[in-house]
Amino acid sequence: SDDDSDDDTRTIVAGTAPGFPPFEFRQDGELLGFDIDLTEAVIERSDYEFGGWETFEFDSLIPALQNGNIDVIAAAMTIEDERREQIAFSDAYYEADQSVLVRSDDDDLPQSREDLSGSIVGAQGGTTGENEVDRLIDDGIIPESDKNVYDNYTLAATDLENGNIDAVVVDVPVARTFSEDLAVEVAFEIETGEEYGFGIRQDDEELVAAVNDGLEAVTDDGTYNDLVAEWFE
Ligand code: ARG
Repeated sequence: SDDDSDDDTRTIVAGTAPGFPPFEFRQDGELLGFDIDLTEAVIERSDYEFGGWETFEFDSLIPALQNGNIDVIAAAMTIEDERREQIAFSDAYYEADQSVLVRSDDDDLPQSREDLSGSIVGAQGGTTGENEVDRLIDDGIIPESDKNVYDNYTLAATDLENGNIDAVVVDVPVARTFSEDLAVEVAFEIETGEEYGFGIRQDDEELVAAVNDGLEAVTDDGTYNDLVAEWFE
């Protein structure tokens, strides 16, 4: 029907996991970032109403989506086959590799994965960065006991800056942001060719289509590029 009165407009609640600047983070209690602005712009382009944000630890986002606590995940989430078994993804909206972050005063910068031998390495639980730490363990470069898992990446980066751990594996754009704000720097990158997508319930094909249409609209009208300029340059 062409009745778009507020009564039958579906409301979309978005979920994210802050502590991942510049995609999603808190500043003076306010939730900010590229994903926050992009999600709101995309939903505004649809026939849905935006119903606000709920925050979770990253590894609780997929359960929250499946439980119906949220309708869309906007958390710089990499589109992965394993996750695709549980949820659907929108079209990709950002590309990133992994990187190894170390303290700026590290006098012997690691240049390869092998150089991380002897290091305590951190990552956020449930992320592709954690998968890379697990690969270091599988390849015999570090023992399982030298892996530190954090509830969010801001905690990991702070622990690195404080000297409690030696390295953090995290998505490149986030590592660059931490290196501007903390005494840490990117030692080297690990090419993973990841693509971020919005996570949506598998049976919610209508929302997948609306989000993809919205992404196309914000790309075509320049909003996407404006947000990239605002948050990454
Ligand atoms: N891209 C990585 C992944 O999908 C890390 C995402 C972490 N996102 C966050 N909001 N903390 O596993």
